Amino acid sequence: MKTYRIAAIPADGIGPEVIAAGLQAIETLAKRDGGFTLDVTQFDWGSDRYKRTGALMPEDGTEQLKKFDAIFFGAVGAPDVPDHVTLWGLRLPICQGFDQYANVRPTRILPGISSPLAGVGPGDLDWVIVRENSEGEYSGHGGRAHKGLPEEVGTEVAIFTRVGVTRIMRYAFKLAQSRPRKFLTVVTKSNAQRFGMVMWDEIAAEVSREFPDVRWDKMLVDAMTVRMVRDPKSLDTIVATNLHADILSDLAGALAGSLGVAPTANIDPERRYPSMFEPIHGSAFDITGKGIANPVATFWTAAQMLEHLGENAAADRLMRAVEKVCEDGTMTPDVGGTANTQQVTDAVCDAIRGSN
Ligand code: NAI
Ligand code: MG
Repeated sequence: MKTYRIAAIPADGIGPEVIAAGLQAIETLAKRDGGFTLDVTQFDWGSDRYKRTGALMPEDGTEQLKKFDAIFFGAVGAPDVPDHVTLWGLRLPICQGFDQYANVRPTRILPGISSPLAGVGPGDLDWVIVRENSEGEYSGHGGRAHKGLPEEVGTEVAIFTRVGVTRIMRYAFKLAQSRPRKFLTVVTKSNAQRFGMVMWDEIAAEVSREFPDVRWDKMLVDAMTVRMVRDPKSLDTIVATNLHADILSDLAGALAGSLGVAPTANIDPERRYPSMFEPIHGSAFDITGKGIANPVATFWTAAQMLEHLGENAAADRLMRAVEKVCEDGTMTPDVGGTANTQQVTDAVCDAIRGSN
């Protein structure tokens, strides 16, 4: 029997609510399948720790996480702490410290959930967005001079490297190849941005030669938003820069029904370090403590985590259970239901136990 060491970092807002739901579902799966167990360690890192001690996580935080097989992350952000402090104090140091350069964001319309797009249902929108997660616009390269004076300057430099672009492109082509349609869309803004973005286009063409069975096309990011809304069926696997894919995947989540169902995985494809799995959404202050956070995004990312650990049968079983519960209409208010987090979680666990 395999035991997986999981670091749970629920952090802020609804993070603890959805991570508890996710762990309940995985534990039910482990019991149902009998082939693996979880050894979960909880970390109390986040904004409360920041307010107490001045840091969201300890100085040796990433060192402590190294021994785990995966990280299960809730959300970080508090109304009374600036967002750049929380993001750069916890989530980004883990993503960047562990070189989790592939951020993988599957989106599809689950049965029972309606898209805001008229006439678009399950099967019409089935995408995976691959976001470059280590450099680009979020390299953290920049600065401010003459602070507060009229001549103040702020720079935010996007860094694109051949190594960084080649490895994400290869990851995206490989992922596209593993999906039935074998089709990749490469997103840039290489009309207005003549250097880094033109290098993306060139490297895409180079890497494509390693994957002769994958069809691919190119889009400018602004036109891509139109295509996602008007012709969702024409897309399958998508690769874009850190900033572009950040924005496109929020749009994708909304088109699939709610941010509350959108998952993401921060992957180190070389498996040198633990990868991190989290819902796309943030702390959701407006619903924190009300018990109505949608746990589906967290279930879905738990399935991504199980797949990464090699437990594909358990991952499939979890997604089938989630789909059944959505189809039956046991859903939280953000997707039009009346159930609370615990009722959805219990229904998913029942479906896991009752599945064949
Ligand atoms: P948000 O994702 O927290 O909330 C946006 C809207 O979606 C809210 O109306 C919220 O109620 C709803 N929503 C989100 N998740 C939901 C769920 N599971 N079930 C039902 N409804 C859900 O984004 P917002 O409001 O922009 O940010 C709030 C805080 O979260 C900020 O501090 C922000 O920096 C942080 N944040 C953290 C992220 C992370 O940890 N990865 C990602 C995005 C935001
Ligand atoms: Mg985002």
